[in-house]
Amino acid sequence: ENKQHFKLAVIPGDGIGKEVINEGIRVLEFLSTQSNSKFTFETDYFPWGCEYYLENGKMMADDGLEKIEDHDAIYFGAVGFPGVPDHISLWGLRIAICQNFDQWANIRPVEFLPGVKSKLNHPEKEKLNWVLIRENTEGEYSGIGGRNFTGRGARKEVAVQSSLFTEEGCERVIRYAFETALKRDRKKVTSVTKSNAQQYGMVLWDEVFARVSKEYPDVETDQWLVDAMAANFVLRPEELEVVVASNLLADILSDLGSALAGSLGIAASANLNPDRRFPSMFEAVHGSAPDIAGEGIANPIGAIGSAALMLEHLGLKEEAVLVNQAIKDATQSGFLTADIGGNTSTKEMTDSILQQLSNIY
Ligand code: NAI
Ligand code: MG
Repeated sequence: ENKQHFKLAVIPGDGIGKEVINEGIRVLEFLSTQSNSKFTFETDYFPWGCEYYLENGKMMADDGLEKIEDHDAIYFGAVGFPGVPDHISLWGLRIAICQNFDQWANIRPVEFLPGVKSKLNHPEKEKLNWVLIRENTEGEYSGIGGRNFTGRGARKEVAVQSSLFTEEGCERVIRYAFETALKRDRKKVTSVTKSNAQQYGMVLWDEVFARVSKEYPDVETDQWLVDAMAANFVLRPEELEVVVASNLLADILSDLGSALAGSLGIAASANLNPDRRFPSMFEAVHGSAPDIAGEGIANPIGAIGSAALMLEHLGLKEEAVLVNQAIKDATQSGFLTADIGGNTSTKEMTDSILQQLSNIY
């Protein structure tokens, strides 16, 4: 048999990251061990995160990037835990990987799952689904800036935090959004900025959007300022298909989208290096949720959906579709973790997804 074989770098990270990542691996194991499976995989685990930081003074090994660079994909839990400042943990691990591996497209689908009470009062909720495409290497998260005049309680400290918008950076992610739209039933791209106030970087973004859109005459376009778009997420969600935005704006809108759909715990994401020069990284949208860590109640759907995005990226589209279908079947039949209104545990949630998978596989 010529099955595909994948080498995955697994970084569980902190808090519920460690819990949900196991569940995604269980789903991959299930798929790979079916008699007609098309792939096998091996895992290398890396114990990086806040505990590692407290022991070693750094979030990952000095040669960490080299250690994971030759893997086919990275499966990531979440980082951040009380005791380590959030900007240290985020920059030391997740953003370090996204920027150094040029994972410039962060894909965040918003799905309304059957059986999950959404916060949105909409007659046809289950027909709603849109995808956020987040610029993932520059913008507001460029990391350019500094602090000065920190001296001795004079209260004169200043901080500069610069956004970086490059024409190339804007163009590649905007183009990606148009290419994504071409593959959907309704071909529409909505660009979100705040270019009335951010008159340099985001006006450049708008100009690139206008230029690139001319190459896609079959794709409908729409442009909004982010404050109005936040309202649109709630008031006119049926207008959303592919939404492309800068690093910070899309980060905020994706939490809003998943909360509207029912919970942060159900949202999946892919940090893609579409050029495939480096491995891409797959992680749930949520963070490490210290408030519920260790209780075995975290929702694994975001992490399992992220594993499905990983399968798709690795060329296993059918398997990805099956996993997403099994998630829907599981919530439809009433298996719901606490965040979406039930009392199913993390493990039982995955059990029910595996059960559904074995029904349809
Ligand atoms: P969070 O996403 O960890 O939690 C927000 C709320 O949603 C909490 O009440 C939590 O219990 C709930 N929640 C999140 N995921 C859930 C799940 N799977 N099942 C059930 N409930 C869930 O965001 P928060 O509290 O702002 O940040 C906590 C830590 O995570 C911080 O250290 C932060 O820096 C870090 N973080 C890391 C991210 C990453 O690794 N990509 C992304 C966002 C935050
Ligand atoms: Mg976020």
